[in-house]
Amino acid sequence: MNIYERLIQDHDKQRELAEKIMATSGDSDQRRDLFRRFKEELDAHALAEEQTLYSELMEIPEGTEKARHSVAEHKDADDLLQELCELDMGSGGWINKFKKLKHEVIHHVDEEEEDVFPLASRLISEQRSNELASYFEDRKQAETS
Ligand SMILES: [Fe+2]
Ligand SMILES: [Fe+2]
Repeated sequence: MNIYERLIQDHDKQRELAEKIMATSGDSDQRRDLFRRFKEELDAHALAEEQTLYSELMEIPEGTEKARHSVAEHKDADDLLQELCELDMGSGGWINKFKKLKHEVIHHVDEEEEDVFPLASRLISEQRSNELASYFEDRKQAETS
């Protein structure tokens, strides 16, 4: 498996969790549990992605701009996650803000899959993209354990 295939697995998990959260209501155990998983998943994915794919891409002149753009979007998502942690989960404001986060996350992963990965796969060798997948796995494990 290469790094792109591995990252797409996580993106699909993020899309699925976000849909499930939208289907929950009020301050319920279900919403609380799904949101905790979503936040953990997003945090660990973004960090491990930055330490593998993006640090590699950042070093290549043609990749720097896209890498910076994606890292800035990680920061925006993280800010929204923090705001959500401070809001009452049962309020209308919470679900409205979550909807905004979901929209941003979907935009981000779509952009990675449609723009960033095709570019990166031209700039990074096949062998290296396989190595990066296993580094990603290690980094993500370290974050979540
Ligand atoms: Fe990302
Ligand atoms: Fe990603």
